[in-house]
Parts: sequence; structure tokens; C-alpha cells
Amino acid sequence: MTINELIKKRRSIYPIQYNDSPIAKEFIQTLLENASWAPTHRLTEPWRFKVIMNEQKKELGLFLAHKYKTVTSEDKFSEAKYQKIQNNCNSSGAIIAICMQKDPKERVPEWEEIAATAMAVQNMWLTCTANDVGCYWSSPGLIKYMDEFFNLNEHERCLGFLYMGNYDTTQLHEGKRSALEDKVEWMI
Ligand SMILES: Cc1cc2nc3c(=O)[nH]c(=O)nc-3n(C[C@H](O)[C@H](O)[C@H](O)COP(=O)(O)O)c2cc1C
Repeated sequence: MTINELIKKRRSIYPIQYNDSPIAKEFIQTLLENASWAPTHRLTEPWRFKVIMNEQKKELGLFLAHKYKTVTSEDKFSEAKYQKIQNNCNSSGAIIAICMQKDPKERVPEWEEIAATAMAVQNMWLTCTANDVGCYWSSPGLIKYMDEFFNLNEHERCLGFLYMGNYDTTQLHEGKRSALEDKVEWMI
């Protein structure tokens, strides 16, 4: 597969599409290594990851679902969403919490730390695509409470979760993007 084909093949594949086939710890290790080769201004390497597998997936699902129930008013609460939050965790082969450690010396602005972390995520995402593993970045409002589940350092923030799992690759859906011309100005 060429780099052009790989980039265009990448999709958000959701937990409902995952099957029970496990994700090997060695594969996660490869993802993390590839993540660490993302570009990083002043080499701050701001990405931080928490790998959640096995029983811990259930714990995360329970935490998120209970938190959702706690912070949602009774009229807005949806039992289906409460269950879906847990199912998303339980159906995944692994979940990587995407965190970002702001440079304590503030040598680069926060947006650059977030950008570098996002580039690290793209490395993992493309690695998943190249290996026919499904994944997607989820960024629910609940991430602001993640310091209650993880031991986050000072100035460390959770930016979401990379849910992943094996899936039936024949079900890969078409991607869609609007016209590139609307977003590009050539100055030649
Ligand atoms: C930073 C970021 C956060 C995202 N958060 C969510 C999310 O919370 N829920 C969701 O369904 N998709 C989320 N996505 C995935 C996008 O919905 C998805 O990339 C978009 O629909 C395009 O589809 P594709 O990834 O298959 O090309 C997120 C993507 C990024 C880059």
C-alpha cells in the first residue's frame, strides 16, 4: 500500500463494528513507538498515553457512565447513552487514553503541545489502518473529569480516547470530504 492509499483508507471505525478478536499487547507497543516519532517543537514530547485493557475497560466504562449520570439532569438523561458508554469500552480490544502534558517551562504554547499530541495520534491511527485494526478518537465532554480516574500530573490533560478493535474489513465504509478547492489558496 502506498502512503497515499494508506492515508485515504484511514477511517473512524466505531466500537459497534468491533469483533471479539483480541488486540495483542505487542501491537499496542508498536502503536506507542510510532506515536513517539511524531514531530514535537523543542522536543517537549507532550503526548502521554494510558493503555486500558482487560478488566480496566469495564472500570473505565463504569466510571464514564456513572459520571454521565451524575452530571446530566434527569430530563436529559438517556438510559441508552448510559449503556452505550459502557458498551463502547467493553466492545473495544483496547483503549488508549490520549493525554497531553503541558511543558512546565512553557517553552511552547499549549496549542503546539496539543498539535504534537494529535500528530502522535495520527501515527497510531495510520498504523492501525495499515494493520486492518479499527480505531477512532472519541472526545466526549466527560474527559474533563478524567483526573478522577487517572493519576494525571499537574498540567496534564486528557484529550480523549482512542478506542480500537478488530473488525470485518469488508465492511469498510466510503469516506467523504468536501471540495479541497474551497480550502486552498494557491499563491503562485
Ligand atoms: C480530535 C478529534 C476528536 C474526535 N472526536 C470524536 C467524537 O467524540 N465522536 C465521534 O464520533 N467521532 C470523533 N472523531 C472522529 C470524527 O468524527 C471523524 O474523524 C470524522 O467523522 C471523519 O471520518 P473519518 O475519520 O472516517 O475520515 C474525532 C476526530 C478527531 C480528529
